[in-house]
Amino acid sequence: MSTLATQPAAAAILVDPNSKIAKKILVLGATSGIAEATCRIWAAEGAQMFLVARNAEKLAAVAADLKLRGASYVGTAVADLDDTDKHAELLTHAVNSLTGMDIAYLAHGILGGQARGEQDFEHAAQIIYTNFLAPVSLLTWLANYCVQRHAGVIAVLSSVAGERGRKSNYIYASSKAGLTAFLSGLRNRIDREGVTVMTIKPGPVNTSMTAHMNIRKADVKKVAATIVKAIDKRVDTLYVPIIFLPIMFIVRHIPERIFKKLNL
Ligand SMILES: NC(=O)c1ccc[n+]([C@@H]2O[C@H](COP(=O)([O-])OP(=O)(O)OC[C@H]3O[C@@H](n4cnc5c(N)ncnc54)[C@H](OP(=O)(O)O)[C@@H]3O)[C@@H](O)[C@H]2O)c1
Repeated sequence: MSTLATQPAAAAILVDPNSKIAKKILVLGATSGIAEATCRIWAAEGAQMFLVARNAEKLAAVAADLKLRGASYVGTAVADLDDTDKHAELLTHAVNSLTGMDIAYLAHGILGGQARGEQDFEHAAQIIYTNFLAPVSLLTWLANYCVQRHAGVIAVLSSVAGERGRKSNYIYASSKAGLTAFLSGLRNRIDREGVTVMTIKPGPVNTSMTAHMNIRKADVKKVAATIVKAIDKRVDTLYVPIIFLPIMFIVRHIPERIFKKLNL
C-alpha cells in the first residue's frame, strides 16, 4: 500500500444490504471494468464507498465519476493488493473510514498469459498469487470482521473458468478454482454467523481483461446490474450471464476421455 487518501467518514450505521439506507461498500480492485460498472449502480443509489486500486490516476478518475453519479461518500486508497503484509492496515483503515461495512466486493485479478506461464513458473505463480493467495489474505480478515458483527456480505469475483481446467487457460482457471473452493468452505463456516459469502462466476465479459479475445462477451453493464441484484438477495453463487449455469453443468460432466482430446 503506497498511499491512503481518504475523506471524512459519515456517521456509523450498519445496514442490511436490502435497506434503503446508504450501503457502506468496500471495493477491492475498484478500477476493474466489472467493479466500476457495479459501483456506478451503487453510486446512483447514494451508497458510501471505499475504493482500493493500485493505479492512482485511474482510481482518482473512478472516484470523481462516482461522486458525480450520486455516491454519498467516496474514500480511496492506492494499494497493490499483492502486498499481503499491508492488508490488515489497509482494511482497518477502510472500514474505519466507512465507519462500518455492509458489503465487501473483491474484484481485482489478472488473466496473465497461459503460454508464458507454461514456460515460466514465476509468471504462473504470479497469476495464482494475485487471484488466489492475495484474496485468501483479504478474505481471512474480512470474514473475521464480519463474524464479530454477525453481519455483512462478502461478494467475490471468481470465474466460470474455475469449473474445469482446459489447455488454453488452466493456470488462470486453477487460481479461480482454488478461490471458488475457498469461498465454498468459508460460506459453510460463516453463513450461520449471519455473514453471506457470495461467489460470482462470470462468463466472458467485455472489459479490458478480455479486449484481445475474439469471442462472444457479455455487456459489462448488464453483468453489473445482475451482480447488484444478487448481492441484495444475498445469493450464494451467481452465474452471470445465467446461460453459463447449464453450460458449465455440461462442461463439468463431459467424460475426461473425451474432454482431454478437445481443443478448448
Ligand atoms: N472480464 C471477464 O471476462 C471475466 C470473467 C470472469 C471473471 N472475471 C474476473 O472479474 C474480476 C474483474 O475483472 P475485469 O474483467 O473487470 O478485469 P479488468 O478490467 O482487467 O480489471 C482487473 C483489475 O484488477 C486490478 N488488479 C490486478 N492486480 C492487482 C493488484 N495486485 N493490486 C490491485 N489491483 C490489481 C487491475 O488493476 P490495474 O488496472 O492497475 O491493472 C484492474 O483494475 C477479475 O477477478 C477477473 O478475473 C472477469
